[in-house]
Amino acid sequence: MPLTTVHTVADLRATVAKWRADGLRVALVPTMGALHDGHISLTKLARTHADRVIVSVFVNPTQFGPNEDFSAYPRTLPNDQKLLDEAGVDLCFAPSVDEMYPDGFATKVHVDGAMTNVLCGAARPGHFDGVAQVVTKLLLQALPDCAIFGQKDYQQLMVIHRFCADLNIPVEVIGADIMREDDGLAMSSRNRYLTSREREIAPILNRVLTDITQKAATGANIGPLLAKGREAILSAGFDPIEYLEIRDAHTLDLVTQTVMKPARIFVAARLGKARLIDNQAIRPANIAG
Ligand code: PAF
Repeated sequence: MPLTTVHTVADLRATVAKWRADGLRVALVPTMGALHDGHISLTKLARTHADRVIVSVFVNPTQFGPNEDFSAYPRTLPNDQKLLDEAGVDLCFAPSVDEMYPDGFATKVHVDGAMTNVLCGAARPGHFDGVAQVVTKLLLQALPDCAIFGQKDYQQLMVIHRFCADLNIPVEVIGADIMREDDGLAMSSRNRYLTSREREIAPILNRVLTDITQKAATGANIGPLLAKGREAILSAGFDPIEYLEIRDAHTLDLVTQTVMKPARIFVAARLGKARLIDNQAIRPANIAG
């Protein structure tokens, strides 16, 4: 079946209702478009969990700060539709800003606590309120059985798990592995902001994370590892580093000495016009999981 695109919540719901009447399982993959192989891998994972796959394409204004790249964010719907069609996706939901936030819209969704105040939450005030708001809406609009999110935005995934549990949203939230280019750079729509010189430099982020991960997993003291990592990232040409930190994989509490429990290393750094983020799991050598 060729891809169908709908632009309104009413049309989305009518399509999902027909599938439900046929007893089909439905997966949603929320995106902001500018699709790449990383997104396509999310749709493939979605297909293993459901009979019908919906991809939403919406550049959500409420998750961008005033000085961020909302207007510059690439909008490539015709190409996105082509890629989704080739990937065998059933439905593209591409609402307008007015459809999502009509006149009089006044509701916020705020996840409190450390989880939203650190890392990207500290660097991008209000960002996770916007994410929580739009993802809550998308989940309630489509009411899928499951929704797939990439682990490149690991903190976002944790925040989504939190509010889905807190608000009893009846959707299984599934995290997908980070897709990387051959040289290790995490796939991202923002990679297209990189010049060719910056594109050569960018994989250093992943190399630094891998090096720290390997050493931290065997019990090395993380202070000196992070200091050396920062130096390598800055001397490659990134400026500034917003954060390079190791945090508990579940609570996102800061780890300061040695890694004793499953943890994650997180980085955000600017290279030219691009703000790149990446992360990796650190599993202590003496602990399974
Ligand atoms: O990860 C993204 O692309 C966005 O934050 C999301 C989840 C689609 C919400 O706008």
